[in-house]
Amino acid sequence: MEIRAIMVIGAGQMGSGIAQVAAQSGIPTILHDVNMDVVQRGLQGIRKSLGKFVEKGKLSPEEMEATLARLTPSDDLAAVAECDIAIEAVVENMDVKAKIFRELDRHAPAGAILASNTSSLPITEIAAVTKRPEQVIGMHFMNPVPLMKLVEIIRGLATSDETYETVEALSRRLGKTPADCRDVPGFISNRVLQVMINEAIWCLYEGVASAESIDTIMKLGMNHPMGPLTLADLIGLDTVLAILEVLQDGYGDPKYRPCPLLRQYVKAGWLGRKSGRGFYRYA
Ligand code: NAI
Repeated sequence: MEIRAIMVIGAGQMGSGIAQVAAQSGIPTILHDVNMDVVQRGLQGIRKSLGKFVEKGKLSPEEMEATLARLTPSDDLAAVAECDIAIEAVVENMDVKAKIFRELDRHAPAGAILASNTSSLPITEIAAVTKRPEQVIGMHFMNPVPLMKLVEIIRGLATSDETYETVEALSRRLGKTPADCRDVPGFISNRVLQVMINEAIWCLYEGVASAESIDTIMKLGMNHPMGPLTLADLIGLDTVLAILEVLQDGYGDPKYRPCPLLRQYVKAGWLGRKSGRGFYRYA
């Protein structure tokens, strides 16, 4: 199936990034959030990100304007009626996602695919709230979307081969490398990654080392591009906690128990980069 128009639901850090790469690839894209102020903030973020590509000479000013012109803001989910695929990137919460998928299912054309960028929630459960489970799939982008090459594709129990092939082809069209995985809690990426991040938070909580020291050891010692606490701040500590809770519930294994320090930071509203403070402070 050819994708001629995309709707992205959620204009936060991931949704904005997904909408940006879709528009940069020449596909008309609707960017949706709870209200127009939030969508405009997302669009400003996209403008800033594209501006950096222009500064580096990787994009011409004309291409930047053409990309922005392909983006349409929306606060009405019914706009999905004009799209071949919806990619949901709202908060990591099953109730919120289920409500959105029910609504998308009601308004989307019969052939349209409904994808979720969830980090860890079961695609099969999201699909079950719709009348088209064979057209529901996980399309998990990495942060920051314009720079990161991977899309982890997750097939739910009922996902059809056609849906999978369409999403795989779309991922390549967006300049990404797809890799597939079965529908298990946390998939591959977060099942492996979040154990490391949680362990780093436990080390900080137990006073084993400072945040800077933990990150330096893991960054230089393991040749990671950034330390686990810096990465947690980038992901968002609310999202990290939500994923660990899904892993703990899903596998029932105490190794996924979220560190109390993480819970405390989230309760304090210290969500990382996006709120200005997490394990580090951001101007
Ligand atoms: P974020 O907090 O930056 O953005 C979430 C957006 O969802 C907000 O703009 C919020 O207004 C919007 N939203 C909430 N309820 C909504 C509703 N009912 N209708 C429309 N919009 C609604 O979060 P972020 O980081 O963009 O994460 C979004 C999703 O992407 C989550 O499922 C997360 O697990 C996943 N993800 C996050 C990654 C990360 O590094 N942060 C990486 C890969 C996936």
